[in-house]
Amino acid sequence: MPVAPSTLRTIEVALAQNPYPVAIGSGALESLGEQIGARGFRPGAKVLVVTNPVVAEHYGARAAASLKAAGLDASTLVIEAGEDQKTPATVALIHDAAFERRLERGSLIVALGGGVVGDMAGFAAATWLRGIFVVQVPTTLLAMVDAAIGGKTGVNHPGGKNLIGAFHQPSLVLIDPALLATLPEREFRAGMAEVIKYGVIGDSPLFSYLETAAQRDPQTGLASRNGVGAPLLQRLLERSAAAKARVVAADEREGGLRAILNYGHTLGHVVETLCGYGTYLHGEAVGLGMLAAGEIACAMGLWSRSEQDRQRALIAAAGLPLTLPLLAPEAVLDCLQGDKKVRNGKVRFVLPTAIGSVVIRDDVDAATITAAMDALSAPAAS
Ligand SMILES: NC(=O)c1ccc[n+]([C@@H]2O[C@H](COP(=O)([O-])OP(=O)(O)OC[C@H]3O[C@@H](n4cnc5c(N)ncnc54)[C@H](O)[C@@H]3O)[C@@H](O)[C@H]2O)c1
Ligand SMILES: [Zn+2]
Repeated sequence: MPVAPSTLRTIEVALAQNPYPVAIGSGALESLGEQIGARGFRPGAKVLVVTNPVVAEHYGARAAASLKAAGLDASTLVIEAGEDQKTPATVALIHDAAFERRLERGSLIVALGGGVVGDMAGFAAATWLRGIFVVQVPTTLLAMVDAAIGGKTGVNHPGGKNLIGAFHQPSLVLIDPALLATLPEREFRAGMAEVIKYGVIGDSPLFSYLETAAQRDPQTGLASRNGVGAPLLQRLLERSAAAKARVVAADEREGGLRAILNYGHTLGHVVETLCGYGTYLHGEAVGLGMLAAGEIACAMGLWSRSEQDRQRALIAAAGLPLTLPLLAPEAVLDCLQGDKKVRNGKVRFVLPTAIGSVVIRDDVDAATITAAMDALSAPAAS
């Protein structure tokens, strides 16, 4: 059943040019066509829905039905969209479909899927005819709270992840929490790491709220979609989207403030790379990266052991890994030097100073980094 727009909570991404709404609410998928109409797309406008086989099976027909009910000229392209298929070759398939279906300047691509689909469909939209409209309909927790909002699009190069890309803001982000019902639990937990990240970098009420929820139900904590429940899910999606929207609006092209979103990602990428892509999901590696950043911040006297313990407890409650295999210090340092976040040879770390606040530092010495990674390699303290 279509959802009345009033039952969707809307968060504005307040960009100077082309601001756009993030609309969140259970059942939102059924209002996709209507929401697109409300953004000024006329009946008859061409819409290409890009999705992957799993998501197409669950939600493709519902998305298409909503678009057609709104009079939009919709068709669907199903692409394979594993991380290893996030390549220019797959984007070329989207371009081929755009050509075959004669997409024009006023046409629209709808990205229906996780971050991989969102990044590729967004990049195809950014580059087709030098930019057509894109609407993001994220279907993973990670994409809902992070990838779908902010306009970063792109694909991987053999030399590294996301090396090819463009900024291309969507016209609308439509988040339907009910779509998470079919998401594998491990993917859900990985997304929760990014939610916890928002708490640490700038939203201490969100952090406290998560802590309370975790304590209320120690059985499932935050580790299960069913354990989290609909009201908490709606709330944490709203807070996370608002956090991302604020940072993006203040720094659309990652000049400064937006770098704080990389909290946990510097050493997280090291973990992903050295342990082999696929060993840890991105969010799992980010959780470990946040713990490592916390250790560094403790060692530098920036934040307290008790705050690090709170961060650790929340990451544990989300069912995320707390330890990693021992990594060779030289390999860690080499890998950091290859990271995109290096400026003038210095590695920039986002480090916590309190729950809800972080600083960026480029003066972390090698011994401190090594000690932080070692601390996570030790058996977990009970
Ligand atoms: N653009 C950005 O700002 C940004 C930010 C963070 C991450 N990313 C990118 O996002 C990607 C990771 O995204 P992800 O974590 O969403 O992974 P993903 O897109 O690979 O999806 C994870 C898995 O879940 C499946 N899936 C998706 N939705 C489902 C649903 N509702 N029900 C059942 N299965 C479902 C997918 O088929 C896939 O197997 C990475 O490529 C990363 O670089 C981009
Ligand atoms: Zn991330």
